[in-house]
Amino acid sequence: MLKGKRILLAVTGSIAAYKSAMLIRLFIKEGAEVRVIMTEMAKNFITPLTMATLSKNPILVDFYNPENGDWNSHVSLGLWADLYLIAPASANTLSKMAGGIADNLLLTTYLSAKCPVAVAPAMDLDMYRHPATQASLSLLRERGVHVIEPASGELASGLDGKGRMEEPEEILHQVDELFERKATLAGRKVIITAGPTREPIDPVRFISNYSSGKMGYSLAESFAGRGADVVLVSGPVSLNPGNPRIRRINVETAVQMKDAVISNVDNADIAVLCAAVADYAPETVASSKIKRKQSDMTLNLVPNPDIAAELGKIKKKGMITVGFALETDNELENARQKLKRKNLDAIVLNSLKDEGAGFAHDTNRVTIISSCGDVVEGVLKRKEEVASDIVDYVEKLLLCSRD
Ligand code: CTP
Repeated sequence: MLKGKRILLAVTGSIAAYKSAMLIRLFIKEGAEVRVIMTEMAKNFITPLTMATLSKNPILVDFYNPENGDWNSHVSLGLWADLYLIAPASANTLSKMAGGIADNLLLTTYLSAKCPVAVAPAMDLDMYRHPATQASLSLLRERGVHVIEPASGELASGLDGKGRMEEPEEILHQVDELFERKATLAGRKVIITAGPTREPIDPVRFISNYSSGKMGYSLAESFAGRGADVVLVSGPVSLNPGNPRIRRINVETAVQMKDAVISNVDNADIAVLCAAVADYAPETVASSKIKRKQSDMTLNLVPNPDIAAELGKIKKKGMITVGFALETDNELENARQKLKRKNLDAIVLNSLKDEGAGFAHDTNRVTIISSCGDVVEGVLKRKEEVASDIVDYVEKLLLCSRD
């Protein structure tokens, strides 16, 4: 899978830098072309000569070569690469990447890279589990960076725990998978709804819910990562899509969300309805702030359109539609009814009874139920991994619909 691929490998200052040397050998053996960026600190851990010899290319450290003045263009490096892999990625570099800091070649290249980006963190266990590092990693994931989780074991500090850079063979395996997945949905158009809707009551108040949009955004990244063109119809959330293949349309209300979906559904191959749409909206929206009174107040609510059901009525042959069902009781039965009522091909069931699943968590546990009777039970995983499992399943449905 790596034959002819161009891998830009960046190495930061970490004892795990010696593993990058082995990684280069593995990449080259697989037929990839490798160029290497090193930070100043990385040179203390492994020599540029070793890395240059193994990669068969000069090492890039500065913005220019001090000997001949040649400019190391971060823009062309980012364009050259099919994958930008930062391994080992130190806590310092991860937090600079998350913060958009651009004070070395590794970072400017990251900011201008157009290709998929992966990081293999390496650090001490306390640094790894520190909220600052975890926040950087989750921000990078939200922006589409693939994180190769560190392994647990003995660390250079003598302590035992999670933080050790993954072994070169496992990194190679994950890189291989990234390339394999990259193109499987090229040319496909996907519509995803994500986040909550907001139904205004007056200029300062609205009805909404706790949806963070994480699941929908992870799905958008996962589809885009496999080459699909994604239209992400999003309610108000604090996330940003990272992949340029994702075109976001911002909406607030359920009616706006429905209009955006319907006007973009032409030629769509797949629709994933992940948004937590408010089922009701106030009948009228007060034009000025409603003032407090002593008496009780009644808010008249009217039903919102059911976007999934409307799509179910108009969908063309061969189009795959997937919904979500967040249930508290009779989970399987309720989900099956929704699947039928909305004419979906599959429904992803979330149970609020599962700890760590549902709104606002970084993890989720889902069961996928299909119209042909499949029931695929998942385990508790990070939302990115759940998204990837759902996309795997959608790919299966696409193959079946072709047969
Ligand atoms: N959905 C939608 N439009 C709505 C309500 C829901 O598109 N107005 C979609 C959701 O995005 C989800 C699926 O329908 O994919 C099921 O949503 P859910 O809220 O669980 O179902 P409801 O039909 O609203 O049923 P209930 O609230 O009674 O459980």
